[in-house]
Amino acid sequence: MSAALLPALRAALPHATIWDAAELATRDPGFDARNFGASALVRPRDAEGVAALVRFCAEHGVGLVAQGGRTGLAGGAATSEGQVICDLGAMNRIEEIDPFARVAIVQAGATLGALQEAAAEHGLDPGIDLAARGSATIGGMVSTNAGGIMAFRNGTMRHRVLGLEAVLPDGRVFRDLTRVPKTSAGYDLKHLFIGAEGTLGIVTRVAVRLDPVNGASATALVGVPDAQSAQRIVRHFLGSTSTRLTAAEILWRNFAALMQRGLGYAPGTLPLDAPCLLVLGLGADSMDAARGALEDGLAAIWEQAGIVDGLVASSDAQAAAMWRLREETEQIERAHPMAPSFDVSVPGGGLDAYVARIEAGLKKLDASYAPYVYGHLADGNLHISVNTDGPVPHERHAAIEDVLYDGLREAGGSFSAEHGVGLEKREAYERHADPVKRDLARMIKAMIDPDNVLNPGKVVARE
Ligand code: LAC
Ligand code: ZN
Repeated sequence: MSAALLPALRAALPHATIWDAAELATRDPGFDARNFGASALVRPRDAEGVAALVRFCAEHGVGLVAQGGRTGLAGGAATSEGQVICDLGAMNRIEEIDPFARVAIVQAGATLGALQEAAAEHGLDPGIDLAARGSATIGGMVSTNAGGIMAFRNGTMRHRVLGLEAVLPDGRVFRDLTRVPKTSAGYDLKHLFIGAEGTLGIVTRVAVRLDPVNGASATALVGVPDAQSAQRIVRHFLGSTSTRLTAAEILWRNFAALMQRGLGYAPGTLPLDAPCLLVLGLGADSMDAARGALEDGLAAIWEQAGIVDGLVASSDAQAAAMWRLREETEQIERAHPMAPSFDVSVPGGGLDAYVARIEAGLKKLDASYAPYVYGHLADGNLHISVNTDGPVPHERHAAIEDVLYDGLREAGGSFSAEHGVGLEKREAYERHADPVKRDLARMIKAMIDPDNVLNPGKVVARE
């Protein structure tokens, strides 16, 4: 879009906030500097405004990129000159919480944290949680099919969405605000928009399933020799009927050490000296019961699982310190600003062998490579950052990807578990996704968005 179109854009959306490129340059683009590379940002007030914006862009051949909290790690919200951003930030209302049907109707720009708080007032919870909860929006989480900490229990965003509303590339509004878990009424087309990263439609409103939450959740930090040991512990707690495992996050030593340094934790304050650390969350009727059950459960499995060390948090502050060790991953970017990061799923019991294989494979590429590995143990989703200094040339990046991704799909895993494809995983998608699936995806994109208006160049097709 050329600057000459700006007056027409303002006229087409008289009620929306609009920033031009000069204004964008003064604002915080979020995780990815490319997020604000566009020529304009438009913040519509409702789905009709989004539809007017989509129609404007279609008419003028302008690429339109939807943005939520701008916390994405795969470049799905990156923009370039000539493109326009559709910012959902003004559409952030939690319109309704129905405590009996256990459903929330939420505008796309509401943050996960806001939904969690609103649901908690009714003793309910959206059943999904992730580190970026304060900024990540429901629309963005739907669009990347976000997963997070509780996916092992409750599934990913796809499994929390009962219905949604999305603006199509031709400006029509797809409205399926089903609020019941069951619908067997033909193709369930809402799923097309979940995980599509804004390439097929712009999600504007979502019906989110809520679960009752009772009692309290206690936290423990446990040192173990390997992932298999951690999995033993998880299986033990999953087998309990009187408690509820709410989190099982794993940190390999190299990552844990970086976090400890970055956060300035004094040595000895937490049990950190083990090959792997496990952050466990366990829910029970009260905090006392949860802490007691964590202690008893760990004692019961201590020897069998080969536990090295462990501590049940005795205060909220101590629990928060344990969680910061897992969640404040910006420490990685601080230490290695250009570190490439990856997000894989490794099935079943293969975690230890996988980590050993990639550590060896990366060392072969460069003897100084020692990856930071951490993630969601109970569903096999690992995050991996490579400790590169400076930018990684394209060929080297591809070689790193080969080390990390080879064999994953065949084993039943995935090269992209929860962060999407965006731009960063475009090549991996072409190389590692099933060819028939890619063909179908191209056909669907061409049919729904023939003029390539929505998030062009992302996920399925190059610009
Ligand atoms: C996390 C993000 C990176 O799990 O997915 O911290
Ligand atoms: Zn994650």
